[in-house]
Amino acid sequence: MKPLRFLITAGPTREFLDPIRYLTNRSSGKMGYAIAAACRKVSPHVTLVTGPVTLPAPANVKCVPVTTAAEMSREVFRRYTKADVVIMTAAVCDYRPRRVAGQKIKKTGKRLILKLEQTTDILLELGKRKRRQILVGFAAETNDLERHALDKLRRKQLDLIVANGARAFEADTNRVTLFFADCRVERLPEMTKQKVARQLLKRVLGLVAARLTARCNE
Ligand code: CTP
Repeated sequence: MKPLRFLITAGPTREFLDPIRYLTNRSSGKMGYAIAAACRKVSPHVTLVTGPVTLPAPANVKCVPVTTAAEMSREVFRRYTKADVVIMTAAVCDYRPRRVAGQKIKKTGKRLILKLEQTTDILLELGKRKRRQILVGFAAETNDLERHALDKLRRKQLDLIVANGARAFEADTNRVTLFFADCRVERLPEMTKQKVARQLLKRVLGLVAARLTARCNE
């Protein structure tokens, strides 16, 4: 059997207001980098599309650095058809300024109103174009974790969604709940992000095996 091709995203994106300022979020990239390192143990084909973070690149993983949501969309879409498993841990900014000022915005003494427009929902688009890929999303929620996670699982046509609270941001540990498309739910105890990555990979490999078995029985 050919080794699986993993496509993983990590970190935040930055959406510029002017050449100096941007909107972003608290994502550290730790979870996505740990997943990329875990996947590299089972396959030589691991690509990590990463927003700006301060982490060292995982060994022998192909890293594709991006800054904005638009760049992340482009780099993910161009690699999608060849991927077997896509794991989107990136905290993609949902909005970007409608206009990026060419020069530094100067203060005027008056109120400044920013107009924002939505970025592409990368995972939603991947779900629409899904063929044989296993699609895994993440959901960071401050409230109604289960309801929001299940809504994203269905809306984005995912095989699995990993839900965590906002405490996961920047932390070295994570407590996640896994919601599968076949309605299974698994609540994992708090553990290091490296351990979460290994547990998640095991579940993903289980989904790959189940799909192959189903094909065998056709
Ligand atoms: N995601 C994405 N593109 C976006 C926003 C999110 O691909 N523009 C992906 C994330 O990488 C994550 C999943 O979608 O795997 C859920 O992201 P999240 O920010 O929790 O949810 P949203 O769909 O953005 O919904 P909301 O902001 O309303 O919670």
